[in-house]
Amino acid sequence: MGKHCYEILRLANCDEECPVQGMMERGESFIDYSSELLRKDEASIPIAIRFSILKNSAGSLSGGIIAIRDMPTKYRLPDSYKSAYSFQGIISNNKRILEIFEILPDISRTDASVLIQGESGTGKELFTNAIHNLSLRQKKPLIKVNCAALPETLLESEFFGYVKGAFTDAKKDKPGRFQLAEGGTIFLDEIGDISPSLQVKLLRVVQDKEFVPLGGSKTVKVDVRVISATNRNLEQLVREGRFRQDLYYRLNVIKLELPSLQERQEDIPLLVDHFIKKFNQKNQRCIEKLSRNAMEILIQYNFPGNIRELENILEHAYIMCKGNIVLKEHLPSYIMGIESELEKAALETGSNLMREVETDTILSTLKRHNWNKIKAASELGIHRTTLWRKLKMMEP
Ligand SMILES: Nc1ncnc2c1ncn2[C@@H]1O[C@H](COP(=O)(O)OP(=O)(O)O)[C@@H](O)[C@H]1O
Ligand SMILES: [Mg+2]
Repeated sequence: MGKHCYEILRLANCDEECPVQGMMERGESFIDYSSELLRKDEASIPIAIRFSILKNSAGSLSGGIIAIRDMPTKYRLPDSYKSAYSFQGIISNNKRILEIFEILPDISRTDASVLIQGESGTGKELFTNAIHNLSLRQKKPLIKVNCAALPETLLESEFFGYVKGAFTDAKKDKPGRFQLAEGGTIFLDEIGDISPSLQVKLLRVVQDKEFVPLGGSKTVKVDVRVISATNRNLEQLVREGRFRQDLYYRLNVIKLELPSLQERQEDIPLLVDHFIKKFNQKNQRCIEKLSRNAMEILIQYNFPGNIRELENILEHAYIMCKGNIVLKEHLPSYIMGIESELEKAALETGSNLMREVETDTILSTLKRHNWNKIKAASELGIHRTTLWRKLKMMEP
């Protein structure tokens, strides 16, 4: 009672796609799924599993029965079947990511703070979900805060809440995200963006697990595990005196560094396959694959937005594709060497074509968003501080 089935069964493929979860989600029974069970002495026993769905009188899923039996050796599966591509919904066959998969269960079972560093779209949030789901806190909330999305004062009240009368609009007490995460995990996204004064307050809650709500006088104690993420180089911010070293050490008890998609090109075909399957399921279509040409273009492209961008590109292609193979012409035109054409032109003529195109794009995007820099930066797929820097550079 109270244990995960993978702690007891220890199937060879528990770490990949959980067959039971898949069937629960689809609401189907299955017979004679073959796998291997790991014995205490680590010997593996080939088995067959039968899983039957139970439904209540209203026809909705209420549980299931799993029956396991020995399987004669001759039905053993080929070894290639075991290659670990997917863990907790994270697809990869990259050495560095597989190393992270390996330590993730152990990391998850501790309460140590985790700092996840990686470019935008490399899976920081996905790994956070995995850590929370594998932890003893999984039944408690996982609360996410994007530290770059709110101005300082609002962010403080989001973190710590406020008491009635703290300011004019505070008509009653409001709990902060740290309180909402009680017993669970809080995910501080874009942690590199918080102001120095909030860093002090954050240090206190990370270190002593207590804080004072805005306008309050009593300290509140919380039991919360902290996972933070950033696409910035925190060490450098520390060296520049823009991020507190003591806070950095507290957040960085365990660090996970996620490689960019360019550093793990071997994952591109796997992810393409994964997303095509996902869209097929969602849209009830059956697109088979990408043509070789289309795949080559993807492999050569350098994905500034990483896996999120790959997913968007494929979704675009998926909609454009009318047959069952995605061709080169279904890919969005911006990834097909247009950037390099511009670069070439700039090099040849010595002109500032690249910069001009960039300026035009930035200005027209800003205009479209009524000069709202946050929205424009988000559409441009760049960080808002990058946008500010670029705007500064444009000034005559
Ligand atoms: N290894 C992966 N396998 C499958 N999907 C992934 C993987 N990494 C990222 N994704 C998907 O890409 C998108 C961006 O990931 P996310 O975790 O939000 O990135 P980040 O927080 O680093 O910006 C999400 O839709 C996520 O599900
Ligand atoms: Mg994110």
